[in-house]
Amino acid sequence: MRRTTRNFARRVAQCSRRIEIMNVFITRPIPESGLQLLREAGHTVRLSATDAPLPAETLRAGLSGADAVITMLSDKITADVLAENPQLQIVTQFAVGFDNIDVQAATARGVSVCNTPDVLTDATADLAWALLLAAARRVVEGDRYVRSGQWDGWGPMQLLGTKVSGKTLGIVGAGRIGQAIGRRALGFQMPVLYNARYVKPEFEAEVGAQWRDLDDLLRESDFISISCPLTPETRHLIDARRLELMKPSAVLVNTARGPVVDEEALAMALRSRKIAAAGLDVFEKEPEIHPDLMGLDNVVMLPHAGSGDVETREVMSELCARNIIAHFRGEEPPTLLNPKSTPPGFE
Ligand code: GLV
Ligand code: GLV
Repeated sequence: MRRTTRNFARRVAQCSRRIEIMNVFITRPIPESGLQLLREAGHTVRLSATDAPLPAETLRAGLSGADAVITMLSDKITADVLAENPQLQIVTQFAVGFDNIDVQAATARGVSVCNTPDVLTDATADLAWALLLAAARRVVEGDRYVRSGQWDGWGPMQLLGTKVSGKTLGIVGAGRIGQAIGRRALGFQMPVLYNARYVKPEFEAEVGAQWRDLDDLLRESDFISISCPLTPETRHLIDARRLELMKPSAVLVNTARGPVVDEEALAMALRSRKIAAAGLDVFEKEPEIHPDLMGLDNVVMLPHAGSGDVETREVMSELCARNIIAHFRGEEPPTLLNPKSTPPGFE
């Protein structure tokens, strides 16, 4: 009852802003579909002039006068940045992960924060599988070999990888993306283990997945896929000690956030063959890559491309726009992370 009254009061307050033209700053060019929705709703759209991560100073300059911003994961939206821009009402992140945004500070200032969950789940799960298969079956090495002109024809002992079908997949962080990765394992007849803060009965029923303590999961799995958010608790979750627990034949895939893995320890484990291979879409200090990884054949690396298919990026653009449009209509944005009535955070 109290919540309803509060929501009503908020709506009345927001209705008075309904006819204003709002300034939306977008920190990097994104697909046109979302921009079109924003313009149709009467908002003014200002795009960053360069298709590159914005230096902090340029970000600050761009935010000045903005009522709403669409951010990329490289944009640090700190308490200071928010304090400098008291006019800013909504930050909507063009990504599912939002560890670059101080949500607590935003909430304290009454700034809405949104992200793009769900719409990129399949794309990211697809890419995790691309990395898993590429690392297991040495797809990138094979491509280099063919292009080198050295290939002299089929060979029974040539470029052998490790079998995927029927092996055990361990999922670290069984949110939407982790579960989608697990669902795909059914097609490969793979037993699935998972570690998450809570047991997921529906995932268990659908995929036959079994919950494991993280260390046990690492000991038992042939393939380990990371899909947990980056939080203070998950930073370096996979460290030297945990890499030691993995099988020498293990393949590690990370499509979540680089700092979840101690990259230096991983490079060492790959070089000394403590684990067999890795497929990485994310890195600790993007776009810098640990120099030791660069020279290794048993790692496949992609430039943080998890959600990177044309269809998904278009829908992400539209979802960011819909969040902003809803907000300025006094409605709750579809993927609001910090509703006034409940604390912010993941499920
Ligand atoms: C990309 O990394 C995302 O969080 O969507
Ligand atoms: C969030 O991290 C998700 O799994 O969708």
